Amino acid sequence: METTTIDEVRALEARHVLQTYKRSPVTFVRGQGVRLYDADGREYLDLLSGIGVASLGHAHPGLARAIADQAQTLIHTSNLFYHPLQGQLAERLARLSGLPRAFFCNSGTEAVEACLKFARRYWHARGEPRAEFIAFENSFHGRTFGALSVTSNEHYRAPFEPLVPGVRFVPVHDPKALLAAVSRSTAAIIAEPIQGEGGVRPLTQAFASAITEAASNTGALIIADEVQSGLGRTGYPFYAPVLGLHPDLISIGKALGGGVAVGAALVSQKVADTIAFGDHGSTYGGNLLACRAALCFLDELDTGGLLGRVSRVGDHLERGLRAMAARHPLIKEVRGAGLIWGLQLTRDAAPVIKEGLARGVIVNRTAETVVRLLPPLVITEPEIDEALGRLDAALGAVGADE
Ligand SMILES: Cc1ncc(COP(=O)(O)O)c(C=O)c1O
Repeated sequence: METTTIDEVRALEARHVLQTYKRSPVTFVRGQGVRLYDADGREYLDLLSGIGVASLGHAHPGLARAIADQAQTLIHTSNLFYHPLQGQLAERLARLSGLPRAFFCNSGTEAVEACLKFARRYWHARGEPRAEFIAFENSFHGRTFGALSVTSNEHYRAPFEPLVPGVRFVPVHDPKALLAAVSRSTAAIIAEPIQGEGGVRPLTQAFASAITEAASNTGALIIADEVQSGLGRTGYPFYAPVLGLHPDLISIGKALGGGVAVGAALVSQKVADTIAFGDHGSTYGGNLLACRAALCFLDELDTGGLLGRVSRVGDHLERGLRAMAARHPLIKEVRGAGLIWGLQLTRDAAPVIKEGLARGVIVNRTAETVVRLLPPLVITEPEIDEALGRLDAALGAVGADE
């Protein structure tokens, strides 16, 4: 059955879809590059890319061809057997990250979950079981029990407690508190190099070196959650090394499949050496379709020159945002890198998102007062100018007061 009007779509969802998402009243039916089209044929510039997922934009011809070809050849066989693509993808990710081994899963939260389990497994194998994790205030790592347990936001946590025990939250940019909290009971320290859901807040290099110091004092492993900040988003393959942070484990997801669900935990050899057959698994993890999509994305990122472009267009976006901040007193701060940016407002960001939608630009609200931008990595400078023009009008319509 074809349901196209917003009213029909809403009524059907209201009856049958579990109401966990508060959606904006738009129904998208088609996309092309950085543009999305709703059921009435209205066009929108997408500065969010499905929360950092549609890395190659919408309906990317190369990705569409690769997925179609793979679907007509073989989609899934399970991890009971070999297929030709998983090793290729793991090798590419090893070259990009410096971590030699990959475990494939289907989402960011699963990638975090795998990293937490592998960290505990590492200490168990060494005959020194360490149960504790150090995480940061304002963090977001996902919604499954392990990932939720290292996520700080009470709103997400409270209805599901008790969570995994042994997690301590430390304020970001407080090296003293961090050094006091990390001990020889700490299995791992988990950090987002840029806190995304927490309001697009990059860690400082000084705090990253405190993480390194705390880890080397105690042997605690470092997990960098690069689900949002990784894979070219900042103009670098990963943001942790830019901060001088060298993690033992990295979680990735979002951009990797360009919209096909795929995530991975990347691990160092010393951690990999402690993992045995059967320790972890996923039925779908790293199937042919997911690996083919991810390989297509990495081709564009590496050989296709996307990575170099992100820095250039990212600079252009930053200049545009700073100019906008100078015009609008409701923007208190501009934070980010490459193509991940947050506009810290003096007030709730919700009306800006709404006014943006009405003017054909998609951004989202995070940490209540932040407008977040995560455009497709293929966005061009003229598209940025056009989108910022619409965002500028939305900010103007909202004004500084509640
Ligand atoms: C840093 C980080 N980790 C983990 C996740 C969870 O990813 P997913 O929603 O794919 O499970 C997110 C999602 O926003 C994220 O930003």
